[in-house]
Amino acid sequence: MCGICAYKTKENAVKFAVESLKILEYRGYDSCGISFLKNGEIETVKSLIDIDDLKKKTENKTSNLVIGHTRWATHGGVTLKNAHPHLSSSNKIALVHNGIIENYKTLKENLNCAFQSETDSEVLVNLIESEKGSLIEKVISASKKVEGTFAIAVIENGELVVGKRESPLYVAYFDGGVVATSDISAFVGNVKEFYILNDNEFASLNENKIEFFNENGEKIKKNAEILPKITQNFKIFDKTHMESEIKETKIVLKNTLKEYLNSSVFSDLNLPKNIKEINLIACGTAFHSALMGAEFFKEQGINSHTYVASEFRYGREILNKNALYIFVSQSGETADTIACAKLLKEKKMHLLALTNTPNCVLNRICENVLPTFAGKEFAVASTKAYCCQVFVLFIFSLFLSQKLQDNIDELIKFTNEFQIQDFDKDLLNKISSFQKIFFVGREKDYITALEASLKLKEISYINSIAIPAGELKHGTLALVDENTLVIAISTEKNVREKLLSNLEEIRARGGEVVLVSNFSCKDYIKIPLQAMHENFMPIVSIIPLQFFALRMCEKLGYNPDKPKNLAKSVTVE
Ligand code: M6R
Repeated sequence: MCGICAYKTKENAVKFAVESLKILEYRGYDSCGISFLKNGEIETVKSLIDIDDLKKKTENKTSNLVIGHTRWATHGGVTLKNAHPHLSSSNKIALVHNGIIENYKTLKENLNCAFQSETDSEVLVNLIESEKGSLIEKVISASKKVEGTFAIAVIENGELVVGKRESPLYVAYFDGGVVATSDISAFVGNVKEFYILNDNEFASLNENKIEFFNENGEKIKKNAEILPKITQNFKIFDKTHMESEIKETKIVLKNTLKEYLNSSVFSDLNLPKNIKEINLIACGTAFHSALMGAEFFKEQGINSHTYVASEFRYGREILNKNALYIFVSQSGETADTIACAKLLKEKKMHLLALTNTPNCVLNRICENVLPTFAGKEFAVASTKAYCCQVFVLFIFSLFLSQKLQDNIDELIKFTNEFQIQDFDKDLLNKISSFQKIFFVGREKDYITALEASLKLKEISYINSIAIPAGELKHGTLALVDENTLVIAISTEKNVREKLLSNLEEIRARGGEVVLVSNFSCKDYIKIPLQAMHENFMPIVSIIPLQFFALRMCEKLGYNPDKPKNLAKSVTVE
């Protein structure tokens, strides 16, 4: 993962770089650092705390040439030595890297120099130093020896070179000079147009001139793209991003519906005729919304399967030229999902990206795009974007079965009446000491259980599992005792009685049951849900469970926005 940036400017670029890193922090926050040129020498400042700490440490620093990095550790622990930027053994070249050099061990063995860190990136900067020619020539020839992925920015003797394979990288002019970053939202300064680097393309950046090169070192011409203006006028300000974002769900669902009813999203699609099969591919929370989507499609008679991207890529799936393949991703940058999209594009399948980020990599790969209008998500735990994904997949299933028009009133009614429901404080106090937590449900409620369990693990570090309620008796019931809390979700009418029998089996073994349901039931501690049409219940029921994870996390004194070991965008395989 990681985020990188580079600036070559007329005025001091240090503050620009630090500002960009603050925006890129969602890509990893294990450590951060910058290198800059000062009186012909490279100076480096790093922090193991956060970007604000880096800002303090660099307040008095000035330079016209700066590279910066925010890290999600892959090779080597979270230490200052492993933090980027990395310097070559002569200290003449500094590099920041996002990606993984897979053959770094072999390369390292062949380089005759001393290494300071355990990283693959330090191998790359020394490999570059060992090559011959100008900086751009050295970077390009080193890249040929490298297996794996990279977006890099490299400085030497006042020169700045960037390049990429798989990991994203964008470059631009702005009124103060030139900039390169992992994400267009991290351009600081007045950028109007930007350039997308494709795989195995490189650029040499001078204050007022950017030259592009292909992997053979030949100069190439590239067309600029207009920088989209992303305005978000509905931000709710609460003490954490996660809390604000859960609370924004109502507004963003309304916005999403408005966009789908008023704009040309559906008429712009170029879909195969008479779709009989839809396959959805995604990771993490987006995988759960994909599972929900598959249920909606099946309800409309469309055969549907769901795949975890990291498994699909190396699997043995039999492809169907008439099927539609949907890639669900909040960021549109997730490496595993992107790899699947590229693979299926090569095989000429019909692709659709369901993303929350305009201009993202996934949108550029897929011929069709369905946006979710959730606004930017900052918290690592995805909440409002998940609800929007589920909502858009439901709307799309109605569109495909030509039932959208008939359901518009129902959709509007839902977005008007739906209420955000926090987790009951007294109940939280009563159950917060359980260390063994199961989430159970049947059918769509089981998918909600999966998502609720992921949220809890992700931010409160409490081990929990989600299991279809009917499956408990086939093994997992052995774990149930008086130390077990079972949170059961019940919104599916046709399996309600079956679920209640499953809960009796838990209670008979001493397990504590909390029922999250819109049905009446006096037998269990209950979190009563607002009653809505069954297909909206996955959204209604996940909200108090997102809050459950959040409140548990707060009770334990953790920061929900930056859980340990994770990052918002997972841009490595
Ligand atoms: O950006 P994406 O939706 O592709 O991200 C996929 C997962 O990495 C993401 O949903 C992850 O599971 C979340 N942190 C969960 O809250």
